[in-house]
This record gives sequence, C-alpha cells and structure tokens, in this order.
Amino acid sequence: MLHFTTDHLKTFERFYRANLINGISGFKPAALIGTKSGDGVSNLAIFSSVVHLGADPALIGFIQRPVGVSGDTYRNILETGYYTINHVEESTVDRAHYTSARFDAGVSEFEACGFTEEYLGDFFAPFVRESPIRIGLQFAEEFHIRRNDTRLIIGEIRHLTLPEESLLPDGNVDLNRAGVVSVSGLAYYHKPARIGEFPYARVAEAPKF
Ligand SMILES: Cc1cc2nc3c(=O)[nH]c(=O)nc-3n(C[C@H](O)[C@H](O)[C@H](O)COP(=O)(O)O)c2cc1C
Repeated sequence: MLHFTTDHLKTFERFYRANLINGISGFKPAALIGTKSGDGVSNLAIFSSVVHLGADPALIGFIQRPVGVSGDTYRNILETGYYTINHVEESTVDRAHYTSARFDAGVSEFEACGFTEEYLGDFFAPFVRESPIRIGLQFAEEFHIRRNDTRLIIGEIRHLTLPEESLLPDGNVDLNRAGVVSVSGLAYYHKPARIGEFPYARVAEAPKF
C-alpha cells in the first residue's frame, strides 16, 4: 500500500498533486454551469464540485477556484444573479470536457463546444438543451475560503427539469436512467452502476454484520 504524508504531497509536481487530491474525494457529478454576462455573452464551463446543501430551502453549492484568467462563470453569477447547473449526458462528454479550456471572455463555449442554449420563461441564465437534468439557480451567498482563495458559491433552486421516467415515486432520481455521468479527478469520466438500494436506516431494523 502506498502511504503519503503532508511532506510527500508538498514535493509533488503541481499537476500531479492536483490530479491526486482531486481524485481522492471520490466520484463527483459532471456539471455544466451556464451563465450569461450583462452584455449578453453566454458562458458554459464544467464543474465537478457540486454539492447539495439542504432541501428546504433547496440549496446547491459549488466550489469556485481562485478567480483569475478563468472565472467568467463566477463574474457572471455575481453580475447577474442567475446560473444553471446542467448534468452531462454520456454522448456529450468530450464536448463537455473542453468547456474547461480557457476560451476568451467574448467566446461562448455553447458555440465553441457544440451545445445549444435554451431559455425557460424569463429566467436569465441559459440552460443546456442537450442536458437531461437541469437546475436553474438564483445566487444566494458566497463564502470566501481564505486558506486557498477558493469560494463556496450557494444558489437557491428556481427551476428543475428532468425526464419523467427518471423520477421515482418516492422522489429519488434514477440518474442512470437519465444517462448522466460522473467525474473523478479532472480527466476521467464514468458511468456509475447502482449496486444497492436500502430503506431509511433504523437501528432497530439494522441487520447483524
Ligand atoms: C472535470 C473537471 C472538473 C472541474 N471542476 C471545477 C470546479 O469544481 N471548480 C472550478 O472552479 N473549476 C473546475 N474546473 C475547471 C473549470 O472548468 C475551468 O477553470 C473553466 O475554464 C472555468 O470556466 P470559466 O472561466 O468560464 O468560468 C473543472 C475542470 C474539469 C475538466
């Protein structure tokens, strides 16, 4: 078994370390965040750090890297207050990956990477037509993490679209049926297989292991 300590981690080459540390937090969603600037330039970028923060109010968070050359997503969210989270469907995984390239702010990754903007009612931010599960959010708050200059961006769900057949009677979502993929690290995309299903865990009903 390999065993690394803080001292080892510090000696690793930057990209090697980033791949390793990003990978060990496990399988994550492959999500395209759609935004539009105040000037009307749409933007699309892949993010895997999406996390559910609570269901009532329905809040979703994601981690924004230190903002510099990249950061159009963040700037658009702060400027306009709206964004969308769109799960990546298997057949679009290559195009989705390349939304992470540093396109100029004036270039829309929707066009550059072959995705279609779709608008729901008067909601400001663009959804991805090719995405089976889509969430429209209104920016709620951000937390600046001083330790490494990242940010937790929190939004409240205003819209949710998903295929009818993927919504189960108890409210669970069958992500496999929706055809969405997962990411590990910054380069590996996966189709997760469901291997178990269990009821709400009560001590009184727990089997003996
Ligand atoms: C698989 C994958 C996952 C990523 N996840 C994140 C993430 O969670 N947070 C982040 O800030 N950047 C993430 N990135 C990097 C962004 O996609 C990249 O910085 C992009 O250029 C940001 O676009 P923007 O400048 O239009 O906002 C990820 C990249 C890849 C390939």
